[in-house]
Amino acid sequence: MKTQKITQIFNICCIGAGYVGGPTMAVLADYNPELRITVVDISKEKIDLWNSEDLNDLPIYEPGLKEIVLKNRNINLFFSSNIPSSIEKADMVFISVNTPTKKKGFGAGFASDLKYVESSARQVAKFSKGHTIVVEKSTLPVKTAQTIKSILEAYKVKGDGEKKSFDILSNPEFLAEGTAINDLKKPDRVLIGGENEDAINLLKKIYLNWVDENKILTTDLWSSELSKLISNAFLAQRISSINSISALCEVTQANVHNVSKAIGMDHRIGSEFLNPGPGFGGSCFKKDISNLIYICNHYGLHEVASYWEKVIVINNWQQKRISRVIVEKLFGNLSEKKIAILGFAFKSNTNDTRESPAISICRDLLEEGCYLSIYDPKVNTKQIKSELNNEQYKKDIFWENCSNLEDALFNADAMVVLTDWCEFNNLDLKKIFEIMRYPSWIFDTRNIIDPYLAESFGFNIWKLGNGFYN
Ligand code: UDX
Ligand code: UDX
Repeated sequence: MKTQKITQIFNICCIGAGYVGGPTMAVLADYNPELRITVVDISKEKIDLWNSEDLNDLPIYEPGLKEIVLKNRNINLFFSSNIPSSIEKADMVFISVNTPTKKKGFGAGFASDLKYVESSARQVAKFSKGHTIVVEKSTLPVKTAQTIKSILEAYKVKGDGEKKSFDILSNPEFLAEGTAINDLKKPDRVLIGGENEDAINLLKKIYLNWVDENKILTTDLWSSELSKLISNAFLAQRISSINSISALCEVTQANVHNVSKAIGMDHRIGSEFLNPGPGFGGSCFKKDISNLIYICNHYGLHEVASYWEKVIVINNWQQKRISRVIVEKLFGNLSEKKIAILGFAFKSNTNDTRESPAISICRDLLEEGCYLSIYDPKVNTKQIKSELNNEQYKKDIFWENCSNLEDALFNADAMVVLTDWCEFNNLDLKKIFEIMRYPSWIFDTRNIIDPYLAESFGFNIWKLGNGFYN
């Protein structure tokens, strides 16, 4: 039975077994063998997949994840659908549920939908016993801790007189998909925001098992919540900045990769996150910037809101202009043409397709009447179908998901590289040219294809941000 005052954490429960909760808890378990960590989820199907014997069936793909799950699962890392009992036993509960952008009502299209966070807080309030530390892991609008606190406060004394108490911490996740395990093992920093020093120290102690103390930053709750939003906003802003310059390079015969390298060598700018591409995707950037815009408007900071709004405007525009280029180069007509899409995930090394630029580009091309053959090493047909969610395109007479590159490229008029998968680096262009229809086009949005080589085999090539291949 838990006591009122916690001096050490023994049991952890994480609500949400998704891209954040799953890998984060796996790494926490790996470095803290003395902890018992249970990851719960409302989706029984997902929990069953986390427990599947064949590790290739885990619900998410992340390099290095399988190995860690294999090492710790059912030893000190558990995946369970029994939410009440897991919360009841826990000294610390992480909330790692998704916080999508609201689709309707006040703030639709901008504000975060906190219904899952709220229902998680209610579950903690209901099932917890004694003292519990609640940790916000999901990215949340600033001041969400206040909402969680209000819910928990209301349950402090149960009907039967049993006393409960809570501390709330913010511990935002900075992992990027595709490199999640490495990011968790070697974080740039760990941020812990809170009001109670004892609670902060208990969480800090868990991280100290593998993270240098000088990389663990402790702050007040609100700065911690806001830092995560701003961190993502700054990263996304860099991508929109370089993408806007990619268009300028195309019309001025410059090469955006040379520009990117030149500016990145200035240590004040730095070289990372300056790769132009088809626009940023993923579950975080658009959602977090939308949320930032919403908060700024809420506080009357309309100029600040409109500044950040432009980051999304450029991102949408970048995707649209790629679709337009493809149509124009193919004589303004896509009907009766086959276009091979290389990569559907929003970046390499993940099977995640949330907000992937491939979605809007594929929809645009389908609108023009072409046939799409899509190849992605990790994304399955069900997933693609759910993303191209227009009744018309659900019929697979307009597109197919190919299990290999050759099928995707056979008789195609064009190939469009949208995801930076490693295996696209070494394409056999000679062979590909032989199986495609003439004239054969390559549209390279990820700077993966060698243009000299492609031209030497007879391809027409368009490279994003490169004025020589425009
Ligand atoms: C992430 C983050 O936690 C959030 O901060 C980020 O901004 C985007 O989403 P992520 O792990 O990527 O979440 O989302 P997802 O893979 O969808 O996982 C969330 C899980 O929570 C799902 O498996 C869902 O079934 C589960 N869930 C949701 C619950 O268990 N309970 C709920 O009430 C709602
Ligand atoms: C991001 C943040 O990086 C991470 O810290 C946060 O916790 C969650 O959100 P994620 O969305 O998983 O991570 O991947 P990230 O590597 O940031 O890539 C996001 C998108 O930007 C991808 O579509 C990627 O292709 C694109 N990108 C990234 C570029 O177009 N150019 C770049 O230079 C970098």
